[in-house]
Amino acid sequence: MKPKFEPNAEYQPKDFSFKNKKKVDEILARYPSNQARSAIMPLLDLAQRQVGEEGAKAKKPYGGWIPRAAMDEIANVVGQPPIKVYEVATFYSMYNLAPVGKYLIQCCTTTPCWLRGSADIVKACEKELGTHLGETTKDGLFTAIEVECLGACVNAPMVQINDDYYEDLTPENMVQIVKDLKDGKKVSIGSQQGRRGSMAVEGPTTLEDLAKKEKVV
Ligand code: FES
Repeated sequence: MKPKFEPNAEYQPKDFSFKNKKKVDEILARYPSNQARSAIMPLLDLAQRQVGEEGAKAKKPYGGWIPRAAMDEIANVVGQPPIKVYEVATFYSMYNLAPVGKYLIQCCTTTPCWLRGSADIVKACEKELGTHLGETTKDGLFTAIEVECLGACVNAPMVQINDDYYEDLTPENMVQIVKDLKDGKKVSIGSQQGRRGSMAVEGPTTLEDLAKKEKVV
């Protein structure tokens, strides 16, 4: 479970303003002017990314989340009462409504991932981070949470870290990913076994000629 929305918590900043006004206008322009509330979701995403960009440069880093002040600003921008924005933000799991680490590790534990060992991935993660699910490491770098299916079951088990998927995990390569992120090293995303998309590990089993022609093998 992700950390819950506490509108009056001490960590909530007093105000928020969008830095990229051009982007705000661009988002609003996608919808008829009498349907500006349709822009709530992309504006929430924009706010979360702005906070994340600021957090990545902070002395004690933190990740993207959406303060209550940002939701109030969005309500103002789309001409709706704040509750209409809170309703949307609290419904969808991709919006973080409380501070998180610079790297948010979303561990999928739904049935296909679970059958392929997600419990061991979670355990390895918790051990390496020294935290439990839902907690943030003291250095502000990591928060690991449990989530439902992220739609990459064919390469289970997997986790999502910020915007990227890491698939075909083992406890060992999960630990290595965390270590590399901690050290600021480049980490390869996608399958950790090197398979292409969701192709079989040993290569294509059908349409082999086409796969060669398209240079996917
Ligand atoms: S069950 Fe984990 S991605 Fe679907």
